[in-house]
Amino acid sequence: MLATLDQQARQFRDDVLAGLSAPIPAVPARWLYDQRGSELFDRITRLPAYYPTRTEMGIFDEIMPEVAARVPKGAVVVEFGAGSQTKTPILLEAVSPAAYIPVDISGDYLEQSAVELQRLFPRIEVVPVVADFARPFTLPGGFAHLPRLGFFPGSTIGNFVPWSAADLLRHFRALLGAGSQLLIGMDRVKPVERLIAAYDDPEGVTAQFTLNLLTRINRELDGDIPVDAFRHEARWNDMLSRIEIHLVAKRDVAFIVADHSFAFAKGASIHVENSHKYDPRGARVLLLAGGWTPLVEWSDAAGDFAEILAIAEPERFAP
Ligand code: AVJ
Repeated sequence: MLATLDQQARQFRDDVLAGLSAPIPAVPARWLYDQRGSELFDRITRLPAYYPTRTEMGIFDEIMPEVAARVPKGAVVVEFGAGSQTKTPILLEAVSPAAYIPVDISGDYLEQSAVELQRLFPRIEVVPVVADFARPFTLPGGFAHLPRLGFFPGSTIGNFVPWSAADLLRHFRALLGAGSQLLIGMDRVKPVERLIAAYDDPEGVTAQFTLNLLTRINRELDGDIPVDAFRHEARWNDMLSRIEIHLVAKRDVAFIVADHSFAFAKGASIHVENSHKYDPRGARVLLLAGGWTPLVEWSDAAGDFAEILAIAEPERFAP
């Protein structure tokens, strides 16, 4: 456990130092989710302008009987990310698996939610795994003979640029094995005004969420970044079909992180998150590129968000 934490801390430091010195400064989005970041994200999911969570929940309410009919009984559900208190119970209730394995980088948050889910579902074996699901890891033993369902809700896949999203999907396939299924949520392309509103809410919660990264760097990496010298900005990149979140310097600013000096000119930015949006065909092509064949696709009436069930088909000769 301690070794894991040390490794996380080292990885955070390496990512931040490398990211801040890069020609286009950027920090990987996963570092936004410390305790405070996770709490703020939780608030984001309840904002009127942030449609994805609410919409996906609505889809779940509709589709679970159909999902349950397609997933073998007594399967192992592997969730990439700690189980959300709202979405995961709906799935577990519907498919009643033998085991549930949430995989998350944040040990504390994972432990908390695993205990809560175990309490709610005493008959399901809950086995949390502390790991960065985007890096190689192994599943706990004892479930090799059971069918598997990967669960990747929330459009978290949108955080990854398409080539690394395809890598990630292939890694899920290798981990779960041929014959496994994957239930994945993906946010759809929609008018820019709605997208920007969802990532730059009038309440300013998303801005706090983004700026919290600087507070975390200051605390964990011995930094002296003046947080008030930066502002949150959400931009739509149409060519790459994604919302980009940046921290933009409001004035010339210099600071130190882990004994390294940095300087940002007024207007320069640190790119901290991407949220890729897919149209129906784009979503399916991405899944196919990652080794997953779409079986069924569901969405809400407005077509704002999609939930796709896909299968890892055995490899075979193709024409
Ligand atoms: C957790 C990646 C799905 O992209 O909508 C929301 C993250 N960031 N508001 C998203 C996020 C700012 C969110 N995901």
